Amino acid sequence: MISAVARHRTALVRTHLSRPLATALADNLLNPSQTLLDYGSGRGDDVRHAKALGIPAAGWDPVHQPDGPRAAADVVNLGYVVNVIEDQSERAACLRQAWGLANRLLVVSARLVWDARDLVGRPFGDGLLTRTGTFQKFYEQAELATWIEQTLGVPPVAAAPGILYLFREPSTAQDFLARRVHTYRPRVRIEPQAIYESNRERLEPLLDFMTAHARPPRPGELSQAAEGDLTTVFGSIGRAVRLLQQVTDTDLWQQITIQRRSELLIYIALSRFGRRPSYSQLPASLATDIRSLFGTYQAACVQADRLLLSCGDPAIVLVSARSASVGKQTPSAVYVHRSAIGHLPPVLQVYEGCARVLAGTVENANLVKLSVTQPQVSYLSYPTFERQAHPTLASAVTVNLRKLTVDWRDYRQVDNPPLLHRKEEFVGPDDPRREMYARLTKAEHRKGLYADPSRIGTRAGWEAVLAQAGVTVQGHRLVRRPATPSSPH
Ligand SMILES: C[S@@+](CC[C@H](N)C(=O)[O-])C[C@H]1O[C@@H](n2cnc3c(N)ncnc32)[C@H](O)[C@@H]1O
Repeated sequence: MISAVARHRTALVRTHLSRPLATALADNLLNPSQTLLDYGSGRGDDVRHAKALGIPAAGWDPVHQPDGPRAAADVVNLGYVVNVIEDQSERAACLRQAWGLANRLLVVSARLVWDARDLVGRPFGDGLLTRTGTFQKFYEQAELATWIEQTLGVPPVAAAPGILYLFREPSTAQDFLARRVHTYRPRVRIEPQAIYESNRERLEPLLDFMTAHARPPRPGELSQAAEGDLTTVFGSIGRAVRLLQQVTDTDLWQQITIQRRSELLIYIALSRFGRRPSYSQLPASLATDIRSLFGTYQAACVQADRLLLSCGDPAIVLVSARSASVGKQTPSAVYVHRSAIGHLPPVLQVYEGCARVLAGTVENANLVKLSVTQPQVSYLSYPTFERQAHPTLASAVTVNLRKLTVDWRDYRQVDNPPLLHRKEEFVGPDDPRREMYARLTKAEHRKGLYADPSRIGTRAGWEAVLAQAGVTVQGHRLVRRPATPSSPH
């Protein structure tokens, strides 16, 4: 169809893999064992970058690559294409065609409303006509998901803001969702025993499996090589399991069981959004975990629904937040480092999970703020959290679960951005940096730097407090400020 809109002009030169493909790569849904079709490939840069990563990739674009193959592939990327098509029936047809070619996964991305903030254009159809004659439809995250589901009849999974996954097999979707639950495992302590020591490497896949699943593997769940190796040496997998139980504490397995049960409940609670899969749609290992820890899937669903219901109760959220063993408490929220989410009470993990159902994973966000005054979760990005003792906020994605909105705010150009103190409060008890952070906090406290909390929350205020006290922070140490040389007369 000839269009008055200059769609092809929307294609950018890309010096890196685009966000949607980088997200699929990070989620291990795209790798060199999968073929990739970039549908609406623009200038072909994603195809080039994917090939450089060893991924067998091809592209098709009606303008830039019309001779490219429009053939089925394991993964199909429909990257920022639907938002440039002004004709709504053609837009839907394009989505259906791309889905028709995806053997395993379709990755759909579109620009979100926050991209439109600085754009000048005039209303056209359901979007905007820009000065360069291109069309852009800016979606709300929930609107994009609803449109895709209505068009294809398949519930998409939010991968990240503006990026959605459609899985061909329900069990692959469930595997992805179950893996997305935050996990935490206690450290495994082994009582030395000669037979264990001489077979340590051989036993590793078994130990890994048992710590991940809180149960011994069934035949076929370990790799053939690992299974064969263990059977040759120990006579059976069961004997190898017993050896591991002898060299570890029973407490450890109880803790792992509690942790795995809670992960499964969180996953099942969140599967209420979309269509909860039937037992037969679950990946085999996940189904076995559920059966072994809950007896039946149905029993697990009943418990999970109770958990989901609790997370909609503000009083329960508040009590859970206040009783959390990790996180920084403020009157209106609890803040936690992403690595410590697995330590939060299950109710709060479901609460955070609800936000992820809508927004997906927010790249680069390292702190999560769970509001206790309204149903709202924010993903905060502090790019220098690891390096700097007092990192400043770069951006925030806020998910409002009542309004079903996802909003983004950029703090990078803000003159006086918010900054963090007491970093140990955000991380988990097992975080190796926790002690270093706590030592600095103690020193700052002793020096009286926290005396006026209203001054220290932003960069300018904090710097003034440091200057006044004649100190500065180097790395994670508080040191005396070097005397400024007096000016010559
Ligand atoms: C914003 S560009 C995105 C290009 C590429 N996917 C990327 O992310 O860099 C949009 C592309 O969609 C292509 N396009 C327009 N209508 C299309 C359709 N009906 N089917 C497939 N691609 C289309 C345009 O030619 C343009 O190259």
